[in-house]
Amino acid sequence: MTALERIEAVVSLHAAMDRTVSSSELPFDADALPPVTCEFVELPAPTSLPARGFADVLQARRSRYDPAQTALRAGELSNVLHHSLVSSPTAGGMREVTVLMGLTRPCDPLGVGVYRYAQGRAEAVRLGEVREHLRASLLQPEFVDLFPVLLFVVADVEAPLEKYAMRHYRTMHVDAGVLVQNLYLVTEAMGLAGCAIAGFTDGRVASLLNLATTQLPVMAFALGRPS
Ligand SMILES: Cc1cc2nc3c(=O)[nH]c(=O)nc-3n(C[C@H](O)[C@H](O)[C@H](O)COP(=O)(O)O)c2cc1C
Repeated sequence: MTALERIEAVVSLHAAMDRTVSSSELPFDADALPPVTCEFVELPAPTSLPARGFADVLQARRSRYDPAQTALRAGELSNVLHHSLVSSPTAGGMREVTVLMGLTRPCDPLGVGVYRYAQGRAEAVRLGEVREHLRASLLQPEFVDLFPVLLFVVADVEAPLEKYAMRHYRTMHVDAGVLVQNLYLVTEAMGLAGCAIAGFTDGRVASLLNLATTQLPVMAFALGRPS
């Protein structure tokens, strides 16, 4: 198989898996999304994690469903993303897994909208209200009402499938799982609240995040502050 055939086969397999789950019944009007943009904001430089024992963090980690109704600070967001990503081993050292985020409350200097996290920057994808589109993308829309930030773990299959066999499709989910565990642990270490989310509709998330065909949404993670 050529690399292109492998990529097409994996994209199609991913879509077939997604079709095994029904979408939310909430309406999703792609034409009503804020337009795609390309501004970026430098996030505050990451700082050290609080000195908390590993065993304590590991044992305290939980999926949280009752965060406070308050926004996060940009520094907190920067720390969660930086520490979770740099501490995540990946198959072959490939960096095919990236994080995008939907903000439903401003996180000064970031306004509401969709951003891509890249090298300490928040690159705006869509600026403006995306709450209803986020709600209609999840099978549990209440996450959007409860948490100020939704992170999306996205795998770009293009580079790894140019190098590896189609079987790498499985491995990239392991990479995503490693990252999700780090998101849980860093969130806990920082005294924040988070929950992994597998229940979403790929096509809606891809449209909301303006993903390329080869960029597959794999997991989501709700992030907030404990009540
Ligand atoms: C890969 C993965 C996907 C998950 N997806 C969801 C989800 O879609 N909705 C949800 O409410 N919880 C989800 N969770 C949270 C689990 O329900 C939770 O981890 C599990 O019940 C154990 O609870 P604990 O995390 O507090 O130890 C997910 C967790 C993982 C690891």
